[in-house]
Amino acid sequence: MAPPHTRAPTGIRVTQTDLHQDALTANWTVRDAVSTYGLDAWGAGYLGIGPEGHLAVLPEQDPARSIDLYELTLGLRDRGITTPVILRFDDLLDHRMTQIRRAFDDAITENEYGGGYACIYPIKVNQQRHVCEQIRDTAARLGFGLEAGSKPELLAVLGLTCEHPDMPIVCNGFKDAEYVETVILARKLGRNIIPVVERFEELELIVETSQRYGVRPKIGLRIKPMSPGGGRWESSTGPRSKFGLTASQTLDAVRYLSDRGMGDCLCMLHFHIGSQICDIRSFKSAVSELAHVYAELKRLGMGLEMIDVGGGLGVDYDGSRSASESSVNYTVQEYASDLVYRIKAACDDAGIEHPMILSESGRAMVAHSTMMVLDVLGRTDFPIDPDLDEIQEAMAAEDEVPQPVLDLIDAYERRESENLVEVYHDASQARVEAISLFALGYISLPMRAAIERLFWATARSVLAGATATGRALPDDLAGLPDLLSDIYFCNFSVFQSMPDAWAVDQIFPICPIHRLNERPTRLGVLADVTCDSDGLIDRFACREGQPAGQKRHLELHDLTPLPGGVGHEPYYLGVFLLGAYQEVLGDLHNLFGDTHVVHVVLDEDGSWMLDEIVEGDTVKEVLGYVQFEPEKLRRSMRREVERAVKRGRLNVGEGTALMRFYESGLDGYTYLE
Ligand SMILES: Cc1ncc(COP(=O)(O)O)c(C=O)c1O
Repeated sequence: MAPPHTRAPTGIRVTQTDLHQDALTANWTVRDAVSTYGLDAWGAGYLGIGPEGHLAVLPEQDPARSIDLYELTLGLRDRGITTPVILRFDDLLDHRMTQIRRAFDDAITENEYGGGYACIYPIKVNQQRHVCEQIRDTAARLGFGLEAGSKPELLAVLGLTCEHPDMPIVCNGFKDAEYVETVILARKLGRNIIPVVERFEELELIVETSQRYGVRPKIGLRIKPMSPGGGRWESSTGPRSKFGLTASQTLDAVRYLSDRGMGDCLCMLHFHIGSQICDIRSFKSAVSELAHVYAELKRLGMGLEMIDVGGGLGVDYDGSRSASESSVNYTVQEYASDLVYRIKAACDDAGIEHPMILSESGRAMVAHSTMMVLDVLGRTDFPIDPDLDEIQEAMAAEDEVPQPVLDLIDAYERRESENLVEVYHDASQARVEAISLFALGYISLPMRAAIERLFWATARSVLAGATATGRALPDDLAGLPDLLSDIYFCNFSVFQSMPDAWAVDQIFPICPIHRLNERPTRLGVLADVTCDSDGLIDRFACREGQPAGQKRHLELHDLTPLPGGVGHEPYYLGVFLLGAYQEVLGDLHNLFGDTHVVHVVLDEDGSWMLDEIVEGDTVKEVLGYVQFEPEKLRRSMRREVERAVKRGRLNVGEGTALMRFYESGLDGYTYLE
């Protein structure tokens, strides 16, 4: 495959919902697609477009070793793995981890920092076994570690690291006696494990348990920073935050340990100011605060040697490179440099050694490595041009033509005039009046249909005219793109595959994975296959240079009808940056289950290879999750079919066919196949 284009192109405006067919490829190159979908910004160098218009994944940011996503999707289809499918790129995850390592190494060298750095992967961000195993292996190479935030996660992490007893394990979250006992015994086993005290009672439990087992524990203290974290999870800091010790509790903890001759066991100070910190300034002040607490506790004789700055390193989901909630206004390098610089400054002021820095940057580590390909099932179809002859015929059949119909015909005839705002006002008013009259029974259904067609055609023409001026839309026309955009129905569940889009309005970038050498001619929003009106995506990553949060429609290609007119050629979209949190938070709304997951690796020659395929839930499995017994359902169905055959309501062939559909349905994918 030829190297994809990754350079930023000059922008091209595509804002109309209908462009003429002959304009499809004219003045449009794949570089325009890069700009339209903002690929260079949120793609972070991991995506490009080949000259044939296919999206390519560059797991190592190397254009010479890229994977054609469209070709891969077809290859999977040939192997019976249909969309929606999650694709995980192991080499990309490795590359991302190495990038974080490199950023800190550079910052350490540049600042002549005396301590080291380790990234500790909190497995809650993505607990899938394959992901955790890969992170563990790469972590062993890079000197990173793992974090557990609950008892089940602790058991998983301990089992995962049996061959790596020195790998640092940080234990956060609520800890009961069993949790603490497991940690202390793991320490006795020889593990490099650090329970972090989040509430004072946990300290008492850790001290009591370690004394009982004769273990000298390594202990971390989580403090409540007063510097605001900002972003969606800003309640993670401040006096009312759920976890961490206040300043006075911190001093109580120091006294408690000193009184028992265990001051040297306090080896780490920890905080967490929230996930997805959008503004680098939040880190600057919180890290300075933590570093000063560190220096004070060191002065009080604690054995401290590590500072854990928690998570928060964010991902630019919308490509705006701003402090908006789905973006970040800093790079990994800037983050690393700021942390190292500030911790060094505080320690130098206090005349103490530079500690080892830990960060729990899970999101930034895994988000880029997972994407989903889904297929478009169809789209809403507004009539483009009203059939005036048909409307005249319908009018002739009326005793009296309703005034709003006449007003709309008048507006329609003026749709290309100078005063587009006035035309739109007239058309809107006529439509409102027509709807009221219809509700009162004064307008027939054919007249209502005529009104609909005339209104849509007028509005569409007004929008096209206003857009063609190249100026911003007047306020009164600003709602038109929303009103006129298409709805593309897509084979996936928002609730299962991108729950944060629904729960916290998280933007996930979306882009067609083919036809990118063809101008997109529609603007649309995406509806999923659940029966829930919230299952809709109407916020998208920015086009190049666009401010954050403004893109409410995606540029899409028209669906190409199959010969014969039934159905359309497959049209695939990619949803990106799904690696953090989405899979485990996803739910079974409408009983759409886990999608297929495929692990893709680069072979030595740069081609793709499937490393592992995890098939998605079958209908039988999801029914089992909600306590149905598929066998019982099958038997009941069979009995009813037999009765129907006996009574002549179905013939034998029909009965057999129905049972065949029922049984293969139970064994099938929960999505449309
Ligand atoms: C204690 C702790 N560490 C790390 C993380 C992961 O942070 P991020 O999502 O920024 O990677 C979290 C997540 O909220 C957390 O609570």
